[in-house]
This record gives sequence, C-alpha cells and structure tokens, in this order.
Amino acid sequence: MAKNRRPRIGIVGAGATGATTAHWCAAKELGDIVLIDIVEGLPQGKALDLQEAAPVEHFDVHVTGSNDFAALEGADVVVITAGVARKPGMSRSDLLATNAGIVRSASEQIARHAPDAYVIVLSNPLDTMCTVALEATGFPRNRVVGQSGILDSTRFRTFIAQELGVSYRDVTAMVLGGHGDSMVPLVRYAYAGGIPIERLLPPERIAALVERTRKGGGEIVDLLKTGSAFYAPGSAVTEMVAAILRDQKRILTCAAYLDGEYGQRGIFAGVPVILGGDGVEKVIELELTEEERQAFERSCDEVRQNLEILRSLG
Ligand code: 2OP
Repeated sequence: MAKNRRPRIGIVGAGATGATTAHWCAAKELGDIVLIDIVEGLPQGKALDLQEAAPVEHFDVHVTGSNDFAALEGADVVVITAGVARKPGMSRSDLLATNAGIVRSASEQIARHAPDAYVIVLSNPLDTMCTVALEATGFPRNRVVGQSGILDSTRFRTFIAQELGVSYRDVTAMVLGGHGDSMVPLVRYAYAGGIPIERLLPPERIAALVERTRKGGGEIVDLLKTGSAFYAPGSAVTEMVAAILRDQKRILTCAAYLDGEYGQRGIFAGVPVILGGDGVEKVIELELTEEERQAFERSCDEVRQNLEILRSLG
C-alpha cells in the first residue's frame, strides 16, 4: 500500500447490501470507498448521500460512485455484493446461473483494474460464487474469501443472547460449512461469558436455536418478501474489511478455499481462519466429533453439487 494515502475499498453492487457495507465502512473510517454499479446514477446517488453525512457523523473518508469498473484502480479490498437476491420460497442455489454470470464479469474487471486487491464475496450461492471469483480473477486462494460464517454466527449469537436474556456482546459462537440450510452451528463452541451454552440451556432449546440459525437468511426473506438481509451481512463483511486493511489477524469464520483441510479439496466452505493483511493467512483445523464431521461433510456435499451444476452450465 502506498504511503500517505488512505486505504481504498471497492464495493461492487450498490443495492441494499453494498450500500449498507459502505455505510458501516465509512462510519468506522476504514478507508475511501468507491461504489460500483451498472445502474446509472445509483452508485453516484448513494455515495453522495452517504458522503453528505460525513460532517454530522465525523468520518473523514471520501465516498464516490461510478458505473465504470476503472474506478476500482488502486483498491486494496474489493467486496462483491452484485447479483440478484432470493424471493420467498427460493433457495440460494436458485440464484446460481444468474449470479455466476454477474460475479464472473465483475471478477474479470477487478482483476483488470485492481490486480493487487483482496476480494470478499457476498453474492449467493456464496460458496460457489467464491469459486467463480477465484477462477475469474486468477488470484491466489488467500486473496479470495467469502463472507458467510460471521453472518451465520452472529445470527446464532443473537438467538442465544435473547434466549438467555443476556448481553449480545457476551455471546460467541461458530457456524461452519456452506452458507445454506445445511450449515453447521457448532454447539460445543458456543459460549456466553465464557460458559459453554450446554451448561446454561436445555438440549431442546439449543436444538431450536440451531434450526433457527440454519434458516436465518430465509426468515428475513420471508419477512421482507422483496429482498434479503442487508444490515447483518453488511456489518459482517465490514469486520472482514477491517481485519484485512488493519492486519488484525482476527480469528473469524469465513468461506475459504479448502485444499485438503478438513478432508475437503477444491471447494469453498466456512471454516475458522486467521484473517489479516495477507487475507486468509491460515485455515484453523478444529477437531470435530463424528456427528459434527458428518454434518460438515453433508454441507460440503451441497456446495459441491452447486459447483457441478455451475460446471454443467459451461
Ligand atoms: C443471508 O443469509 C443474504 O445470504 C444472505 O441473509
């Protein structure tokens, strides 16, 4: 990164998730932000509107919008949110064909205009779109990562905190696997104030929270009817942007390319990683129980099926 300049964050897609990500990133002064979208006026309008909050909110970063990917020049991190969202009754996999085309073309443009950037993917179906971005950019695996684990975990954490009637900030949890209904909330690794939740809640209540977490994205889609979640996804991706730009070496659950870790090869899936200045610096391998391992494998099989459908589309 050049000296004496603020980091640059590119956000592809100025819909609800892209704009909300820009909002969180600006509020935290993570860097100058450029919003990119193909719809004329949309990224410019949202960027200007957000910029005009700077004097009140006291953030000293520039927010701009463009319809031209060349505006990504010099971006240190690029977030891909572009694509269509689910409607009630749809699974994330139903978006595959449409979003693969959008993410592929965005990724090619990123490789052209921001060849040194770290890429964070949010478009769905998430784990498959990560593969599209990896292949279309040609970037090494540490520079392409997917956002889903923090989102799925923060949903699980929210439900646990509400069930216990305790502070949201005291609950930690981890959700592994693909970003679909077969995701794997790890009950053994969920704590409230450092106390395993299994000591605080009966098994049937925990099972209900796990189920609600798995369907957490769908619950929002059913309520909104015309779109999917954006506040929590935007917040979750902002945590990843900060980890990379500030070399925080956070341990976060992210969709990482697996090359033998957890017995999986050639797919992206949610696992704990060290996320820092060089992107995915390490995949942390946890010992799983037989039941957890089987659930993780089932979830990875679902990711692999999506990948096969993608390959068959050519
Ligand atoms: C979600 O889980 C949109 O996939 C996103 O809400």
